[in-house]
Amino acid sequence: MASGDMTSSKENAIFPPGEAVHKAAYVSSMEQYHKMYKESVTDPEAFWMKIAKDFYFKEQHSGKFFDYNFNINKGPIYVKCMENASTNICYNCLDRHVKNGQGDVTAFYWEGNDPMDCTNITYKKLLDEVCKFSNVLKSLGVKKGDRVAIYMPMIIELVIAMLACARIGAIHSIVFAGFSAESLSSRILDAECDILLTADGVYRGSKLIHLKQIADEAINLCKDKHKVSTCITVRHLTDNSFSDDVSDRPGKRPCSKVQVPWNSGVDKWWHILMEGASTECEPEWLKSEEPLFILYTSGSTGKPKGILHHVTGYMLYAATTHKYTFDYHAGDIYFCTADIGWITGHTYITYGPLLNGATSVLFEGIPLFPDPSRYWSIVDKYQVSKFYTAPTAVRSLMKFGDDPVKKYKRSSLQVLGTVGEPINPEAWMWYHKVIGNSNCTIVDTFWQTETGGHVLTPLPGCTPTKPGSATFPFFGIVPAVLSENGEEVEGPGDGYLVFKQPWPGMMRTIYGDQKRFEGTYFKRFPGYYVPGDGCYRDDDGYYWITGRIDDMINVSGHLLSTAEVESVLIEHPSVAEAAVVGKPHSIKGEALYCFVTLVDGIEFTPELVKELKERVRHSIGPFCTPDYVQYAPGLPKTRSGKIMRRVLRNVARGNHDIGDVSTMADQSVVDVLFTNRPEQD
Ligand code: PRX
Repeated sequence: MASGDMTSSKENAIFPPGEAVHKAAYVSSMEQYHKMYKESVTDPEAFWMKIAKDFYFKEQHSGKFFDYNFNINKGPIYVKCMENASTNICYNCLDRHVKNGQGDVTAFYWEGNDPMDCTNITYKKLLDEVCKFSNVLKSLGVKKGDRVAIYMPMIIELVIAMLACARIGAIHSIVFAGFSAESLSSRILDAECDILLTADGVYRGSKLIHLKQIADEAINLCKDKHKVSTCITVRHLTDNSFSDDVSDRPGKRPCSKVQVPWNSGVDKWWHILMEGASTECEPEWLKSEEPLFILYTSGSTGKPKGILHHVTGYMLYAATTHKYTFDYHAGDIYFCTADIGWITGHTYITYGPLLNGATSVLFEGIPLFPDPSRYWSIVDKYQVSKFYTAPTAVRSLMKFGDDPVKKYKRSSLQVLGTVGEPINPEAWMWYHKVIGNSNCTIVDTFWQTETGGHVLTPLPGCTPTKPGSATFPFFGIVPAVLSENGEEVEGPGDGYLVFKQPWPGMMRTIYGDQKRFEGTYFKRFPGYYVPGDGCYRDDDGYYWITGRIDDMINVSGHLLSTAEVESVLIEHPSVAEAAVVGKPHSIKGEALYCFVTLVDGIEFTPELVKELKERVRHSIGPFCTPDYVQYAPGLPKTRSGKIMRRVLRNVARGNHDIGDVSTMADQSVVDVLFTNRPEQD
């Protein structure tokens, strides 16, 4: 269990909200926050029904706002919210605003990887394109409840595709376009998707990624178990289907750069299907508790979990968290740097902002291309006022010093958000002082794929912040800190973070595996949702996330299970056994550190290390390439044979103070591991 001792010195530093955001904020005092919070948790129905009034429901809600069971001893776990109402989230994202006369408002400024490559799209145009693609999907036989896999880069067509699925009631399952063919295929198989949407390719920085080739490989890997009937490809690197006028995208690269393999039985071009499709498409009205999307996240057993979100609760929560956490007002320009392939992109690029009628920047590229000032050039170009990124991005930019930042003014900025992992106070301070000119509020937002939206976060107009703390619960969230034996810790103290009652945006189940859902989140402490993080609550009631309580590793804000990486390593014929732990890393937060025991007679060589790293990279995706592979003639185990990861973490860190090892079967293996450590940074 992580401990709270890390917080004592930091607790003293408190930063008031930034002036600019405070002045016009929806919530501008802690008094007001407490009042709203109190209502949200004591009378959720009154609180959320006021919010629901802003949305369009085809059938109105009657009866209880929430119906739920959090106690596994009392029967199956379930959460239902406004169960008998019906709505459509795409309608609420687009039609509602167009009908209110906001059709000409820009929904997205799209900024390509190449700084010369940009365009924008209004709400009206987006609605037309979404209707067209909805009709395309319908013409291919896609109907309510069908799963559609999406493996696309950060282009407007990705937003169009997900909204079109939502419009016709199909369930989208977006797979981050940095995942390997193997990872993509296992996700297609798990959800039995018949349709896959992709693009010809994409540039990330100067690197060309052949998405269509990877998509083909994935289809091929699934073919014996499940047939993907149609693969639709966006011709991204050549032409653009929503604008005939190519002059607005001057950085367009010639088509000769990408070779697109083609299988005429399966493959269809997006732009050809869209030709002549109608811009009229009546939305499918879904009951509140019908599914909206599946998004896979790592699970500690190694098999990814298909987190399932339903329509209405997610809609209310995405909109409300986006509005209050960023204090979003009409006229703001909002920029979230995440990829839509992760939950941050789902909730805070597509759904939350569009539900609030926001104008956002949709960025295809990476922070260091063409140079480390790229984000700030975008901030000045579009006059971004609300900015949201990850600690790993802040740390990678910090390395280049202040000059790339100071080339730009950034005077439009008011709120700076962070998400994905605990932000270290040094990075927080740099974000605040250098990026934010000490004028902005930093919102450190703690949440998960499973929670749908922020659960612990400051509100930028009122919350005094402390570097490294996600501060207080969002509306509707009732956190508690539990001790090892499940007792609630009163006042300051550390333990397991849990939530005591449901909120609208929480996951409903794991797709196709209710048992795993209950086992993962509700079994350890019956009556509570257990997110899997340790936390500390200080004297002022601030929450500090202290890290995962399971065998998950957070690499650059991406959660990975050690079991998933170990199983890839063990598949190598030379590897007899493998154990993976996290090692602190100055930019990524944690790096993968792998210990491998080899089959008798096999030599540990630099070539083997390279091969093993490549294997993990190829099987899971480039973002989780191991930093270290160490030879382990033996692994430290308990007498019952359980690998002692705590000891391995110490070896990885070079920390000889390994604590109590009385349960270890053979203590001599530890000395050998310390002598075998590979060269470290
Ligand atoms: O461990 C916590 C960490 O990321 C986990 C959720 O990962 P994922 O589902 O991939 O979603 C990431 C984006 C929401 C959490 O269980 N985490 C996320 N945000 C924070 C964080 N840890 C500390 N502080 C945060 N702000």
